[in-house]
Amino acid sequence: MNMVKLAVIYYSSTGINYQLAKWAEEAGKEAGAEVKVVKVPELAPEAAIASNPAWKEHYEATKDVPEATSDDIEWADAIIFSAPTRFGNVPSQMKQFIDTQGGLWASGKTVNKVVSAMTSAQNPHGGHEATILALYTSMMHWGAIIVPPGYTDQVLFQAGGNPYGTSVSQGQDGKMVEDVQGAVKHQVKRTLEIAQKVAGS
Ligand SMILES: Cc1cc2nc3c(=O)[nH]c(=O)nc-3n(C[C@H](O)[C@H](O)[C@H](O)COP(=O)(O)O)c2cc1C
Repeated sequence: MNMVKLAVIYYSSTGINYQLAKWAEEAGKEAGAEVKVVKVPELAPEAAIASNPAWKEHYEATKDVPEATSDDIEWADAIIFSAPTRFGNVPSQMKQFIDTQGGLWASGKTVNKVVSAMTSAQNPHGGHEATILALYTSMMHWGAIIVPPGYTDQVLFQAGGNPYGTSVSQGQDGKMVEDVQGAVKHQVKRTLEIAQKVAGS
C-alpha cells in the first residue's frame, strides 16, 4: 500500500473511544498507512470532569495526546472518527470540532476525504446507529466519501453486527461488553483500501 495518510480523530471522557482510536491506530500502521491519533478539545468545565473519577483519570492520562486541528483534516486522505453517544447524538466536543471547520469546508478541502465512524454507548440500544448517522450527516455536507463496514466480514457478527460503523456497549463496570477489536481493525483496513482507490494508486 502506498502511504495513505490516516487521521484518527476521537473524543472520549472515560476511555472507551480512546481505546477504539488506539486499535484504529494499530490497524492503520499494520496496513502501512501513516497515522495520527488526535483528540478533539474538551469543552466541559473542570468541575464537571472532577466530579466523575473515571473522567478525571482519563482526562489526566491523555493530556499529552495532541489536539485535532483543521490541518489534520487537510493532511489526511482518510479519517476515522470515534466518539461516544450523548443522548443519541454526537457529543458537543466532537460537534464543536466539526462546526469549526467552516473555513476548510469553504475552501473545498473537506471534499473526497474518505471517512468512517465508530461509537460507544452504555446500552446496546442506547443510540449507536443514531450517533454514527448524525456524524455521517455532517460528512455528506463536507462532500466526504463515507465508508460503512456493512457486513463485509464475518468479524462484524461477533462485534454486535453494526453495519454503520463499529460500536460497543459499556458495561456498569466501565468495560466494553462486546469484543470489537477485530471489527475496528476491519473497518480501518477497509477505509484505507477505499482511500487508496480514491487516490488512484
Ligand atoms: C451526558 C451523557 C449522555 C449519555 N447518553 C447516553 C445515551 O443516550 N445512551 C447510552 O446508551 N449511553 C449514553 N451515555 C453513556 C456513554 O455514551 C457511554 O458511557 C460511552 O461508552 C462513553 O464513552 P467514553 O468512555 O469514550 O467517553 C451518556 C453519557 C453521558 C455523560
